[in-house]
Order: sequence, then structure tokens, then C-alpha cells
Amino acid sequence: MHVLTILDHPNPNSFSAAVAQRFMAGAKTAGHTTECADLHAEGFDPVWRQSDITPDPDHPAQAALHREQNRITRADALCFVFPLYWWGMPAMTKGWMDRVFQWDWAYNQLSDPNASLLKPRPTVLLVPAGSRSDELETKGYRSALETIWFKGTFGYFGCTPRKLELLCGAKGSDDRRQTLLATSFRTGKNIGKFIQD
Ligand SMILES: Cc1cc2nc3c(=O)[nH]c(=O)nc-3n(C[C@H](O)[C@H](O)[C@H](O)COP(=O)(O)O)c2cc1C
Repeated sequence: MHVLTILDHPNPNSFSAAVAQRFMAGAKTAGHTTECADLHAEGFDPVWRQSDITPDPDHPAQAALHREQNRITRADALCFVFPLYWWGMPAMTKGWMDRVFQWDWAYNQLSDPNASLLKPRPTVLLVPAGSRSDELETKGYRSALETIWFKGTFGYFGCTPRKLELLCGAKGSDDRRQTLLATSFRTGKNIGKFIQD
């Protein structure tokens, strides 16, 4: 399989960047090819503008979107890596999704979140989070994220099956971080096998 990782972090030495690297190393171990859309390094513009409302294929802004769409088209599986910011995705990932998954390219209706124009692609979200896992569970944050992202958003884009891996305690001890990086590696290694929980 060809696996596309979408990384959202401005610091190449961040924990999130290390998560993306470990994920891709795991995927390569299993014989997959990998590609990384490093959104900050590549200077992706995440702001939805007038040119996104009635896209003109000749508008220069569309070239960047087509590049991203071509990446998705050639991918058999997707992995999003972004840190949890205010119980959601950071603006870069949000804007990438707003702009790249265009109406009539990725989806063309709003009644069925599992009907996409794109082929089904196994998709994992590796999301470093500062909180502890018990806090995420007991306060309902995990289920809120799963409702918004998995009962809604991602299905419209053919991200099926989909898996959310919250990497809790990402600001914790070295031991904790090593455990989370091992999870990232294992997730990459198993990307061809996973089924939805
Ligand atoms: C602006 C901002 C918002 C954050 N919001 C949350 C949050 O809502 N929940 C949480 O668990 N951690 C939150 N954090 C902590 C980050 O998730 C954590 O710093 C990050 O995952 C560490 O990864 P990094 O070293 O790659 O940045 C936030 C951090 C920042 C900077």
C-alpha cells in the first residue's frame, strides 16, 4: 500500500514530528511506501478564501489544492498527525481539510456522513495530547471527538475504516513518550490490517 501521512506541526523536532516518523517507519517495515505532507514545512495556506467558494481551475490557488488531491488519489491509506489543541484539530489541519476535500470532488451531499465520492481508505489519527487518558475518558472528551470526527467529518471523505489514537500524556516523562512512539510505530506496521473498533 501507499500511505500518506499529513503532519501538522511547525517544529521539525517536535514530538508530533517524531510520531509521524515512527508511524512511517512502521509502515515501511510492513512493506508499504510512504509519503509525508508536511504542511508547515511546505507552507500550505489553510485559510478558506473567496477563491474557494466558486473554484476556478485556472486560479493559482487551486494548483496547491490539486497537488494535495493528487496525493490523496495515489494513497491507499491516510494518517493524520496533529497535536490536540483546545479539544480539536489545529488551524492548519482544519484549513487543509476545509480546502482540499472539495465539494464535488470528495463529497456531494450532507445527509449521509458515510457516503463519499472518494474510495474507502483506512485512516488513522495519531493525536498527541497533554491530558491524561483517564481525564479524556471520564470527562467525555474522547467520545465528543469521536462523534464530531468519526460520526461526521471523516466519513464524508472516504476515510473508512477509521481509528483515533489519542497519544495521552505527550508532555510527560521520557518513558511515557517512548511508549507513545512505540504505539505510533505499531500503528504504522499494522496500517494494512486494522479494522474499525
Ligand atoms: C494552543 C494549545 C492548545 C492545547 N489544547 C489542549 C487540549 O485541549 N487538550 C489537551 O489534552 N492538550 C492540549 N494542549 C497540549 C498539546 O496537545 C501538547 O502540548 C502536544 O500534544 C505536545 O506535542 P508537541 O510536543 O508535538 O507539540 C494544547 C497545547 C497548545 C499549545
